[in-house]
Amino acid sequence: MTLLDGKKTSETIQDEIAAEVAEIKAKGGKVPHLAAILVGNDGGSVTYVNNKVLACERIGFGSSLVSYEDDVTEEVLLNKIQELNENAEVDGFIVQLPLPKHIDANKVLEAIDPKKDVDGFHPTNVGRMVAGLPAYLPATPAGILQLLKRYEIETKGKHCVVIGRSNIVGTPMSILMSKCTYPGESTVTICHRNTVDLAHHTRQADILIVAVGRPGLVTADMVKEGAVVIDVGTTRVPDATRKSGFRLRGDVDFDNVADKCSYITPVPGGVGPLTIAMLMANTLRASKREVY
Ligand code: GUN
Repeated sequence: MTLLDGKKTSETIQDEIAAEVAEIKAKGGKVPHLAAILVGNDGGSVTYVNNKVLACERIGFGSSLVSYEDDVTEEVLLNKIQELNENAEVDGFIVQLPLPKHIDANKVLEAIDPKKDVDGFHPTNVGRMVAGLPAYLPATPAGILQLLKRYEIETKGKHCVVIGRSNIVGTPMSILMSKCTYPGESTVTICHRNTVDLAHHTRQADILIVAVGRPGLVTADMVKEGAVVIDVGTTRVPDATRKSGFRLRGDVDFDNVADKCSYITPVPGGVGPLTIAMLMANTLRASKREVY
């Protein structure tokens, strides 16, 4: 079994980006700038956004963080988005999800200029991805593609089973794995909460990608010998032995599943760190007007 080291792969990708930024700087070009909008103080979201800002600092990007209380109005948010759309200094920006219930997340995401939508959540980017046109790919699926590619994992003709159909991971992941470019060319099955006999499907997976946020959902009996298992779950579970009071748990029962796999991602240190690296990669592409 080979552990898919997302932390190391993320560092490699970020080093590659940092080298390119240093070159841009040396030539007197514009340094890429990422802005992030954070609403409320959900622990997970605060950590994720802070890590994104820290990554910007580390690789030499400019960054700005715009924070709001969780009672911010939709109007205030939409005005800020308009401002960022028009701000030439900002190459790309994200609105951290989830948003409070009184805000229409779809309306907010649609207000972002697709050219600055480095999360790849705007319907224009989703549509372009489906059509096989240049687009910003959502960071988590893009990170998983990088893992498959950099570990040279064969995907052509394989059966890829994706559990979860979210707009952020499951749906784009299943589309990308079916595309006619590497990593892709797989036969894809999408499973979700209405799937009857989940184990029947997962046991047929050569590549199993799990993104539902249910700790330990995938047990050893559900995995085929030699499968590639990608665990996107990062649920905070209480842990009194930690200073933080919690630890992260994946959707896969790693301790019992790992021995059956050819490759598997750990949690933490698997897919999570790649999400940040790919957001940085998208921001660099935005600053170079490389997508459109
Ligand atoms: N919430 C969970 N994942 C993501 C992500 O990749 N981007 C944003 N903006 N919010 C998220």
